[in-house]
Amino acid sequence: MKILIIHGPNLNMLGKREPDIYGATTLQEINNSLAEKAEEWGVDISFFQSNSEGEIVSTIQESMSNSDGIVINPGAYTHTSVAIRDAILSCGLPVVEVHISNVHKREDFRQKSFISGVALGVISGFGINSYFLGLSGLVDYLKEKS
Ligand code: DQA
Repeated sequence: MKILIIHGPNLNMLGKREPDIYGATTLQEINNSLAEKAEEWGVDISFFQSNSEGEIVSTIQESMSNSDGIVINPGAYTHTSVAIRDAILSCGLPVVEVHISNVHKREDFRQKSFISGVALGVISGFGINSYFLGLSGLVDYLKEKS
């Protein structure tokens, strides 16, 4: 089972970026812990981070041929990107949307997600544990399907 983790814009700044909201853990540390968990679960995992919407769209398109599912934290593109939503629909893979913060108790502009309506599920507000919960949900879904 192959799963791609996509981190959107500004998530390369984790650890330094608004630590009161996003915590002190760096993106590299999150990826290392996810890789450990994936090994334990027998899952082949890969990682991609970009600040560019187009690169994220291209990576989702390419994942069609080399992944079984995606966990994505689209960052601010969550609230703006029809292009990422359309890429998810085109690739046809199950996609889990995750957020470190609980976007529903933040600013009004974060209340709208262009991604949730095409996602298998959404996890928001559990800190970096949102990634593990999202990955676990996707792995269970893919196991049941196969
Ligand atoms: C975020 C929430 C988004 O609203 C924000 O723009 C981010 C991070 C989160 O993980 O909580 O960049 O996706």
